[in-house]
Amino acid sequence: MTSEHWRTIRQLPQHSLGQLFEGNGNRLDNLAFEQAGIYFDFSKTHLDPDVVRSFQELADDIGLPAKTDALLSGDPVNVSEGRAAEHCAERGTGNPSSIENARALHQRMKSLIEIIDSGALGEFTQIIHLGIGGSALGPKMLHRALRIGDEKYELEVVSNIDGTALEPVLERFTADKTLLVIASKTFTTAETLLNAQSVLDWMREQGVADPLGQVVALTASPEQAVQWGIDETRILPFAETVGGRYSLWSSIGFSVALALGYDVFADLLAGAAAMDQHFQEATWDRNIPVLAAFADQYYAQVRACETRAVFAYDERLGLLPDYLQQLEMESNGKSVTLDGEPLSLNSSPIIWGGVGTDAQHAVFQLLHQGTHLVPVEFLAVVEPGDSLDPAHHNGLLLNCFAQGAALMSGKKSDDSHRNYPGDRPSVTILMEELEAHSLGALLAFYEHRTFVNATLLGINPFDQFGVELGKQMANVLSANDGNRLDASTEELKNRAFDA
Ligand code: F6P
Repeated sequence: MTSEHWRTIRQLPQHSLGQLFEGNGNRLDNLAFEQAGIYFDFSKTHLDPDVVRSFQELADDIGLPAKTDALLSGDPVNVSEGRAAEHCAERGTGNPSSIENARALHQRMKSLIEIIDSGALGEFTQIIHLGIGGSALGPKMLHRALRIGDEKYELEVVSNIDGTALEPVLERFTADKTLLVIASKTFTTAETLLNAQSVLDWMREQGVADPLGQVVALTASPEQAVQWGIDETRILPFAETVGGRYSLWSSIGFSVALALGYDVFADLLAGAAAMDQHFQEATWDRNIPVLAAFADQYYAQVRACETRAVFAYDERLGLLPDYLQQLEMESNGKSVTLDGEPLSLNSSPIIWGGVGTDAQHAVFQLLHQGTHLVPVEFLAVVEPGDSLDPAHHNGLLLNCFAQGAALMSGKKSDDSHRNYPGDRPSVTILMEELEAHSLGALLAFYEHRTFVNATLLGINPFDQFGVELGKQMANVLSANDGNRLDASTEELKNRAFDA
């Protein structure tokens, strides 16, 4: 019975982090790991041998190995939608025919990049990538993380329906030098299609004779893109079984591959494949995504932590918290189990965060002295991304490490205002260098961790019905067909539109 395992885990003795370090001189050997150029340090969490063992027993009982095999071999693990979740096939693990299909589609992407690079479709120097959610967050985050600054193409990713996001890009860009990339798995998303229409209108107004000739579509619904008037040779499809927030590895990565070079994209896939292999092969007591999920569940279910904070101590990784918000909250923000029964555990914590050191001067007060216990995740990169005085990068890293130490040790004072309770957990993820291979491994780590969390919770991480109702209501509001929502909402609409 899984409830008995949870009872056991909840009843285990709770030691402070200080006690855990004092009691085990090998703590780093057991809880710090290196993989694909990344050092993962879980030693400042409350994981101890008893907690890990109890979670392993729970994982055995719920069949985590079989469920992992099912994911990695392309079985229909997304039960509510009756399909597989095949993002790993994009990296070479999965159903052989899906792997083959992914390779063929990557090859097609590569060929189109070569054609565009040759200038055969026009003298493009600027790219507008339109998409939202999983069709934007990954490309945007990756581009910021990996761009060097002297690339051939300038890339802007625009997601919001808010015209103040798109307009400044159109003001800056030159229409006949702009390649428009429309990224949408469904090719029905209102924000993306309205933005696309506005870019095409702008191109026409600027004198481009055939705006649709400057469009590339990235989609799992190629027939919709054809209906939109996009030539099939410039439609890069991907498999329906690749979920939106897991789609970075598919054609959705096209704009990044074009802007930064296909080799960068290939390295990203290779890094993710290295983490897939680790996830598949490592024993649970040394399996990085599995241990991370054990810690997540420990804080969510035993210590009732409702949030987890992620701080990137590197401006280049500044969009990672946003990316992880979608990955984890859209995946595991569910209230029912795989069978549709009410979930009796706490679902995904709220993921939030920002960049260090900025956040230290804004929100860390609460982390050190607030009443909430917030597990923190620090990310940093050993190799600097700048060529200024090394004092910048050294200061950045030292601040990062000092925060983890301060959260853990605290500092006692008789003056309660100046007392730091300490015993506050953190994970530190230290990348040797910020490059595509290790970033791919890092993102795959987060995907697998999300999957293990979902499996421990007994929920489906691969659907997202929760986002549909708001879309339906937006349609009701815009329809003007006599259907009404509540009085408050109708009054807001009247004030905005009937003035
Ligand atoms: O509304 C949520 C969502 O469906 C996400 O899951 C998805 O990543 C995003 O919208 C964009 O969807 P699409 O790629 O189909 O435009």
